Amino acid sequence: APARRETFSSRRLFILSAIGSAVGLGNIWRFPYVAYENGGGAFLIPYLVALLCAGIPLLFLDYSIGHRFRGSAPLAYRRLHRAAEPIGWWQVLICFVIAVYYAAIIAWAAMYAWFSITQAWGDDAEGFFFNNYLHTADQAGLSFDFVSSVFFPMLAVWIVTIVIMVAGVNKGISRANAVILPLLVVMFVILVVQSLFLDGAMEGLNAFFTPNWDSLQNPGVWAAAFGHIFFSLSVAFGIMVTYSSYLKRKTDLTGSGMVVAFANSGFEILAGIGVFAALGFMSVASGQAVDEVASGGIGLAFVAFPTIVSEAPFGAVLGVLFFGSLVFAGLTSLISILEVIVAAFQDKLGWSRKAATLVVTIPIALISLILFPTTTGIHLLDTSDAFVNQFGILACALVTVIVVSAGLGSLPRLQKHLNRTSTVKMGAGWRILVGGIVPVALGYMLINEIQTKSSEQYSGYPAWFNGVFGWGMAGALIVGAVLLSLIPWGEKSKLKDAEYE
Ligand code: PHE
Ligand code: NA
Repeated sequence: APARRETFSSRRLFILSAIGSAVGLGNIWRFPYVAYENGGGAFLIPYLVALLCAGIPLLFLDYSIGHRFRGSAPLAYRRLHRAAEPIGWWQVLICFVIAVYYAAIIAWAAMYAWFSITQAWGDDAEGFFFNNYLHTADQAGLSFDFVSSVFFPMLAVWIVTIVIMVAGVNKGISRANAVILPLLVVMFVILVVQSLFLDGAMEGLNAFFTPNWDSLQNPGVWAAAFGHIFFSLSVAFGIMVTYSSYLKRKTDLTGSGMVVAFANSGFEILAGIGVFAALGFMSVASGQAVDEVASGGIGLAFVAFPTIVSEAPFGAVLGVLFFGSLVFAGLTSLISILEVIVAAFQDKLGWSRKAATLVVTIPIALISLILFPTTTGIHLLDTSDAFVNQFGILACALVTVIVVSAGLGSLPRLQKHLNRTSTVKMGAGWRILVGGIVPVALGYMLINEIQTKSSEQYSGYPAWFNGVFGWGMAGALIVGAVLLSLIPWGEKSKLKDAEYE
């Protein structure tokens, strides 16, 4: 008989792992800038609305599907309804694309923790990053010119990750999160306190928190809030379905979800304070307005922050804390996305944990190591992130909620399941949010994304490049999902549909 499905040995470990997944690069380098650009202090209102009306209700949806049907995304959706299996595979493939480039960012950050000590970039952080470190090619494309200072740290990231994953849910994933998450919180709090003592910190915080109330009339600001919340909570692409499938049968789902959601938001707001205190320092030191130095994403982490590290007192400490936080936050998220893929193949083919993990993660690591530590890796990363992570996720989430609510009419069933297990009960309001408000918000954002992405060449890259690695890849995932769902379930697979009708 196939081994019984592993479960988290305690609810605490599930919560830690779910927070580890949610708290990622997005909290540190994305939220501060999104909030600043979209109304500063006033952004808190659309942010909270999005959290309460879309983020948390969707998180509960993921939990209810994973926990009720006790399977990886493809198996859980299949048990919900046979025809829904491709949704699960779509989520698996999105996770695959994210995983292959996420490892590259973690590797850069690890190198930058070291560079903070050696001050490798001198006084030209931007030139150093693109030329001396990444050796970025002039033209976006596909080159196989490897950059060893990216390749080797990436290899290390993959080895550490695979070792953790092979050990399984309790000995690997739980343990890693139980060690990394507390460390991350301690490092990050020290980082924020150190930033608050920098000259100019208050100017930075003023810029961050000053509310622009007019922004609330701008629909784009509301879309930004919803978009960020979906991304930040990692909802609707399989992660939370997978993790909750490892919960014991009697578990308080909604109570756990609230803890995860508020911990994630608490971390982002802390990050906003730390990042803008540091940017305030940079603005005072360079005599530029905060507006001119503020940025997010790769520019914030690998251009602005190194500059701050060079100029701040105890800059090396600041740098090690910042880049160390990116590494830790990233690792726990990478583990969670890989688990979606591992669990899916383990279920479908009936393999053991070890076999499934090795057979799935080694090829993924190889693909990642062939494509990203190259002189064109950053272009590929940029385009896949924009099309799959920002646009594909929205499309997948929209299809998922429509199929589950209007298509299959499953919400009452799932609501019942939530209420049977949980302390915080869901009423009709939950069904209205998930089946009505969420699809409308997602639909609006998706149309917006399609319009912007088709009106100009993304990032100024050649049309063929965005065509293949952007639109092409996003479309290929859907085709791939259908094909994967057509593969018959292995003899030893843990299908057992009947038990779940
Ligand atoms: N939720 C993570 C964050 O806020 C992002 C993430 C994306 C995590 C994909 C896992 C997978 O950064
Ligand atoms: Na997050």
